Amino acid sequence: MRRLGDRRVFSSADARALAARRLPRLVFDFIDGAAGSELAPERNCRALADVLLQPRVLGNVGQRTIAKSILGQAFDVPFGIAPMGMCGLATAGADNLLAEAALERNMPICLSSAASMSIEDLRRIAGDHAWFQLYAMPTPDQTMALVNRARAAGYQNLILTVDVPQVARRLRDVRNGFEAPFRMGPRQLLDFAMHPAWSLPMWRHGRPNPVNLDNNRFDRNASRAGANWAFLDQLRDLWSGNLIVKGVMSIPDALRIRDAGADAIWVSNHGGRQLAAAPATSDVLPAIRAAVGQDYPLIFDSGVRSGEDVVKALALGADFVMLGRPLLFALGANGATGLAGLLDEFAQEISTVMAQIGVCDAAGIGSVNLFSGPPGHDGSETESTAPVSLTERHVG
Ligand SMILES: Cc1cc2nc3c(=O)[nH]c(=O)nc-3n(C[C@H](O)[C@H](O)[C@H](O)COP(=O)(O)O)c2cc1C
Repeated sequence: MRRLGDRRVFSSADARALAARRLPRLVFDFIDGAAGSELAPERNCRALADVLLQPRVLGNVGQRTIAKSILGQAFDVPFGIAPMGMCGLATAGADNLLAEAALERNMPICLSSAASMSIEDLRRIAGDHAWFQLYAMPTPDQTMALVNRARAAGYQNLILTVDVPQVARRLRDVRNGFEAPFRMGPRQLLDFAMHPAWSLPMWRHGRPNPVNLDNNRFDRNASRAGANWAFLDQLRDLWSGNLIVKGVMSIPDALRIRDAGADAIWVSNHGGRQLAAAPATSDVLPAIRAAVGQDYPLIFDSGVRSGEDVVKALALGADFVMLGRPLLFALGANGATGLAGLLDEFAQEISTVMAQIGVCDAAGIGSVNLFSGPPGHDGSETESTAPVSLTERHVG
């Protein structure tokens, strides 16, 4: 068993195990928890684990690049930081650490409506790397106030999250009495007291609050059903930058969103935090790719736990991949060092996996890199024939 002092993070599993020991139970459960039976996060991971890549040999793979572009922006890696409300709970100053990592590594960072850093501060620190994620607020005025602030601050990319019409019942949060801001009862105080490595720096730094919302209060249970088709049309008219719609899992929805003028769709089931019976994102991605066409921008998340998973998502049809829980656990495990360690591992693994599948440029990863059947089955070298059967398996 690894000692708590030995906090090097080599994998998402390391990060989670170390964070489980360092974070108060209430905080760990907030990050780790999911809707209802909590089966969806495991389903996401298992489905990605079942995807196989086609090894290739003797190619000229000495020089490789994992750089990738999305929506006209060139990044050094094919992944970014998904929006996560109250991510400041992972460790003292987490928002700053994520923003600095995004800037240093040239990758996008998405600021949640419920983040504990202001819209303006993130844009100041991370510049064009900063994307803003919008929830429909209880009133249209509150929603538009966020959109206007994002525009005034200079954001180019606005993400409308549509898979939280009502926040799901997450039983761990209910049992733990998790609220934002905290309700400090004796049970929570004991939890914090038993985790001083988290609590003391957090005490010094100050409690993270949803600073972009009225009175720094985020009513997690308020309806967000204001995000409907009419609102999407209205937002499209008002927002001249890139509009990305996050939380899409169905082909009819994807087609209608594309036709409403969204610039990109983000295939996601919110990491299983909204619907326990949701299919795995990697099971729906190939069908959504086939429906929206080869050139339409698709972003992907939910269940990505390694660089190899990133490659798989790209092979299944994603243009770009976002990371969620593992980054918060890495921060919780060992702050900036934990985060840097995990991001390094992701980047290195993407590059080494590319070498194994005979790819030099991450932009070239596609369905041809999926394993399509037993050896000898993929005798054809053409991109159009080999991968089809596996794609169908994952859709079906
Ligand atoms: C603690 C936490 C808070 C989140 N808050 C938001 C949010 O405010 N807005 C949003 O669009 N998604 C939110 N998400 C979902 C993530 O953006 C992402 O879709 C999800 O984490 C991907 O699943 P994974 O972490 O299992 O890979 C949150 C996820 C977590 C873990």
